[in-house]
Formats: sequence, structure tokens, C-alpha cells
Amino acid sequence: MSDNDNKPEEQPKQMRRIRSFVKREGRMTQRQSNAKEQYLPTMGLTYEKKLLDLDAVFGRQAPRVLEVGFGMGKSLVEMAKNNPDYDYIGIEVHGPGVGACLADAAEAGINNLRVFEHDAVEVLADMIPDNSLSTFQLYFPDPWHKARHHKRRIVQPEFLACIHQKLVAGGIIHMATDWENYAEHMLLELTEAPGFENTSDTNDYVPRPDWRPLTKFESRGHRLGHGVWDLIFKKVTL
Ligand SMILES: C[S@@+](CC[C@H](N)C(=O)[O-])C[C@H]1O[C@@H](n2cnc3c(N)ncnc32)[C@H](O)[C@@H]1O
Repeated sequence: MSDNDNKPEEQPKQMRRIRSFVKREGRMTQRQSNAKEQYLPTMGLTYEKKLLDLDAVFGRQAPRVLEVGFGMGKSLVEMAKNNPDYDYIGIEVHGPGVGACLADAAEAGINNLRVFEHDAVEVLADMIPDNSLSTFQLYFPDPWHKARHHKRRIVQPEFLACIHQKLVAGGIIHMATDWENYAEHMLLELTEAPGFENTSDTNDYVPRPDWRPLTKFESRGHRLGHGVWDLIFKKVTL
């Protein structure tokens, strides 16, 4: 038997895409797995190659906010609770985080939040209609510290072009990071991306707006003495 007989079927080279995450199969608590079982049927959305009808998903028309990589979801649930007139879509690949988010959302009694457990790059490209989001949020994305891993950072020109398409005119893209080198990368990519305007008076960063709650990773960063950089850009017509 050759070595190849044991290998899973490989995808053709051109189909392979560099991913911004490594799937960690972290252990799920009872609370998280119960929440997934109980609430995925109503609050969960499943990836398929088909555009969503967001008015049908939420049963109303409202401005829509999409967050990528919500982690354990605490700050996302808090935002959804604080802003009942907005609809929220969260996308996360980490199963325990999805469970924790669903448990918190159920406890908060909110029904303006839906979540995907899937790669956000695919969900955005295949399921989110153009001109449908009022806000896109990306808080403390994996920084991929080493230079040879920078290509794994989710903030890349193609990703920003895709978000531009999904935002309504005047819609905003809000990012935050506690890693200075990633903040500089975000600033450079956003400044160079066609169709975005920086809302910062100093043409770089903005103070944390009071509507963005502290996230888990941010608190960890504070404990480690890291700074935090927020960026808010607005979609302008091309
Ligand atoms: C450093 S954590 C930050 C979590 C949270 N935003 C916070 O501040 O506490 C980054 C998260 O992004 C998720 N992530 C990375 N790439 C993703 C992708 N392509 N689609 C969905 N989630 C992704 C990871 O699973 C991880 O939970």
C-alpha cells in the first residue's frame, strides 16, 4: 500500500483557500451543548450557497449589523439587547463560543440575533445580499503575529471589497484590535480600499464608541497592558 492510500482525498490546488482560523475542537460545557440543541433551530442559520431573505429571517425590516468572530458572544448579545431596533447576525467557527452565545441570548430574552457556525468568508460571499448591512463589526480578530502568517489575517483587500458590496450606502465598518501591528495593517488596507472614508478626525483611529462593549479578548489585552485601536470607516459611493 502506498502512503497516498491513507491520505484523505485532496482538493485541487486552485480550490484551496487560506483560512483565517484553525478549527479548535475545544471542549463544550453542558450549558453550551444544551443551548445548541435547544436554540439552534430558532436562532441558528445554516450555511448554503443561497442568498438569505433577511426580512423573512427576522420577520421585519430593520437596520442590520453583522459581526464576524464573536468569540463567546458576550459583547454581541449585550449589543443586541441594548439595541432592540436593530437585527444582529453573528458568525463564528468555534462551536463552544456559538453555544455560549446562544445560552446568553436565550437568558437575555432577545430575538433580534441569529448565528452561523461557519467560515464568515463563505457566509458573506454566498448568503448575505448586497446593500443589506448597516454595520459590519470585527473585534479583536486573530492577529497572526508572525510575518509568514500575515496572509492568514482576515483583513485583506478581497475581504474588504466583499464587505463594501454588502454594506448599504453610508454603512459603516468597525474594527478593533489590541495588536498595534494589526491596527496598522487594518488602517493601511482600509485607507487603500476603494469606496471607504475614514471617520477619524486625525485620519487614523477613533476612541472606543460607548456602544461597543468591552470584549473578552479586549479585557485580556488590558490585563496584559496592551493598547486598543478602534477604526471606523464609512461606505461612500465608488
Ligand atoms: C481572538 S478571537 C476574538 C473573539 C471576540 N471578538 C473577542 O473580542 O473576545 C477571534 C475569533 O474569530 C474567529 N474567527 C476567525 N476567523 C473566522 C472566520 N473566517 N469565520 C468565523 N469566525 C472566525 C475565531 O474562531 C475566534 O473565536
